Amino acid sequence: MSDPLFEVDESGEDVTRADAVATSAELTPAEKAATREEHIRLAEGALVRADDLVAGYVPGVNILRGCDFYLQDGELVGIIGPNGAGKSTLLKALFGLIPVRSGAVTLRGEDITSAPAHRLVQLGVGYVPQNNNVFPSLTIEENMQMGVYLRSKTFQSRFDYVTELFPLLGERRKAKAGTLSGGERQMVAMGRALMMDPSVLLLDEPSAGLSPAYQDEVFIRCRRINATGVSIIMVEQNARRCLQICDRGYVLDQGRNAYTDTGRSLMNDPKVIELYLGTLAKAQ
Ligand SMILES: Nc1ncnc2c1ncn2[C@@H]1O[C@H](COP(=O)(O)OP(=O)(O)OP(=O)(O)O)[C@@H](O)[C@H]1O
Ligand SMILES: [Mg+2]
Repeated sequence: MSDPLFEVDESGEDVTRADAVATSAELTPAEKAATREEHIRLAEGALVRADDLVAGYVPGVNILRGCDFYLQDGELVGIIGPNGAGKSTLLKALFGLIPVRSGAVTLRGEDITSAPAHRLVQLGVGYVPQNNNVFPSLTIEENMQMGVYLRSKTFQSRFDYVTELFPLLGERRKAKAGTLSGGERQMVAMGRALMMDPSVLLLDEPSAGLSPAYQDEVFIRCRRINATGVSIIMVEQNARRCLQICDRGYVLDQGRNAYTDTGRSLMNDPKVIELYLGTLAKAQ
């Protein structure tokens, strides 16, 4: 995996991003990284990549208005931004749930723009929406079986993996998902997506509505899942916590990339703090 902090300039010499940006008078490091040229350069060979995406729900109204995104193999990338910025819409566009009007989405270089969800699941993409993400009348175990319906023979080995990550799902395997707390249901939803052994997981606000203790638990699990080799795209309202654990982050605003950099750099960028982290922190 390439390290976005260390890049190679045209002369072939390693330069840090800070050095590279010293030549640009107006732009901060994060702003420069948000430009299309930087995106095209850094997105080379990405596992998932979206270029200049335009998408929306209602004819004539674009919600994503030229959005760039990439995820390198093994990365955990966070997407933050104000309410209505288009974060969930971006995940839906990546997962083929809304029509893409222009631009392209690729997976390992293969065009998957507007591909149907079942095809993406077969290709190793898992998606956990924010709401309504479990079958409440089914038991935990049955929810896991639904997750692996395409490859039922692998149920036991995948169930073992998932219950190692989330022991509670094994202990309460006969409990109906509808009787579980919000945090437990979130585990079921993630567990179900993991049953298909995805190489990429798209998570829409996995910590939403959870108590602080459960929120921490979710972030720790996400890092662990990532450490087992699953690349993760995570949309989060809990912006600071998200930036703390992610390799890189994107700030979306009005359907466009506002800033992108390493999680740590974004967290310490005065403009990002002023414009996004302050208000987002208050909204939590
Ligand atoms: N199903 C829909 N039909 C029409 N418009 C929609 C639909 N879903 C979302 N939108 C609109 O698209 C815009 C972006 O919504 P989106 O859900 O992507 O924002 P978000 O960044 O995920 O916000 P939040 O932080 O509140 O989850 C909003 O203006 C919203 O009203
Ligand atoms: Mg959303």
